[in-house]
Amino acid sequence: MTLKRPKGTQDIVPGIINKWKTVEGIASSAAEQFGFREIRTPVFEETSLYVRSVGDTSDVVTKEMYTVSSKGSDTFTLRPEGTAGVIRAMLENGIMNEGFPQKVYYIIPCYRHEKPQAGRYREFRQFGVEMAGSASPYADAEIILLAASVLDGCGLENVSLHLNSIGCPDCRAKYREALREYFEPHRSELCPTCNERLEKNPMRLLDCKSPICKEIAKDAPVITDYLCDDCRAHFEKLKSILDGYEIKYTVDPKIVRGLDYYTRTVFEFISEDIGAQGTVCGGGRYDGLISELGGQPTPALGFGMGLERLIMTMEAAGCEFEPAKTPDLYIAPMGEKAQEKAALLCDAVRRAGYAAEFDLIGRGLKPQMRYADKVKAKFVCVLGDNELESGQAKLKNMRTGEETPVELTDFISVFNSLLINEVFGNGFEDEFSDILSGMQSAPEEPKE
Ligand code: HAM
Repeated sequence: MTLKRPKGTQDIVPGIINKWKTVEGIASSAAEQFGFREIRTPVFEETSLYVRSVGDTSDVVTKEMYTVSSKGSDTFTLRPEGTAGVIRAMLENGIMNEGFPQKVYYIIPCYRHEKPQAGRYREFRQFGVEMAGSASPYADAEIILLAASVLDGCGLENVSLHLNSIGCPDCRAKYREALREYFEPHRSELCPTCNERLEKNPMRLLDCKSPICKEIAKDAPVITDYLCDDCRAHFEKLKSILDGYEIKYTVDPKIVRGLDYYTRTVFEFISEDIGAQGTVCGGGRYDGLISELGGQPTPALGFGMGLERLIMTMEAAGCEFEPAKTPDLYIAPMGEKAQEKAALLCDAVRRAGYAAEFDLIGRGLKPQMRYADKVKAKFVCVLGDNELESGQAKLKNMRTGEETPVELTDFISVFNSLLINEVFGNGFEDEFSDILSGMQSAPEEPKE
């Protein structure tokens, strides 16, 4: 029986890891540029954390959680999203007492028991940010700008920003009533889940995927008509700040988000290029969550960006990923004595800060050269009895084919110069010799 990975999960194998490193690098650099610090929290939390935050009317809590009961009566849930655990950790570790605003980011795996399809997985990865302590619309604009700058850094131009305000509990109470009144006459046509939603949280009806419910919801009242003066002013100010940054957006009153903690601003970045699961990033404000989880009332906001969907969008748009790292040097030893020397040379090359490999399985010269080609080594050095006897070998530049003689006693410094000129262009080393000698400690030659 062949063992298979669980449905809805992916293996990220070495051949594609460069894509992940590219997006993770872009995301974390952008977050740090905006003053966000990294936070890491457990992959599982007490189930009640998600029930209290994400909410007991959300699909995530009612249908999608991976929950296990451990010894005793505790139940734990694999993190379906990042916000709840991060806010719990900020409260538990006193970060909320260290002055505001507090800004953190994370890159995490999340788990939701959804029906897998393109762009929808049961294990997926999110880059997320959370900011606590600012009620200013400039904070809303700041996180939208950060998400936009990650998308921009990835080379994406066609991911559109959809923006809405879902108000505060006051304006939402009136809106819920209006929705109940609107949907009540259609009760018998609505799906069973929406019938339940009508009682508990009628805004969820706007999120339903059933074609009949969708059709009925088309003419439903929109939240923007029910915003109180403060929420409306906040939303208007946010829009004018975004206009100032020349960030394009569409006000989309149908965006209500699938998690219960949101207040006021909600937004999604949607790609048209990756099919039905096109929401690459979703977020918004959640001014009531911190007090709900036991903290002082504190305004807060953030977003989560799905990294699988981000990579899919980049692939669809033909964006470039950083190439995988390749060895700077491959040493091809012929025979046992040469292998001994190759091992020591490799060690010295690595200590000088470069990536080097040598043969570990006693292959002949041809397969070794094929291997060096396959791993895209920048230089190759063949070591045989002749080289060991004469104390001289050749360093072959695999791009140009040029061979440079090298005394084995002077190997590292010759290799060092060749590589610097290969990477930065010929003449670089002479031109910047002063700077380079200040930057690098003299490389050590291997012991005889
Ligand atoms: P979310 O909209 O549930 O929000 O998820 C954020 C992003 O995660 C989505 O836009 C999507 O790109 C990705 N995503 C969600 N589910 C899946 C899935 N099954 N497969 C692949 N990708 C998926 C949150 O999680 C909030 N915690 C975001 C947030 C942070 N709001 C405020 N702060």
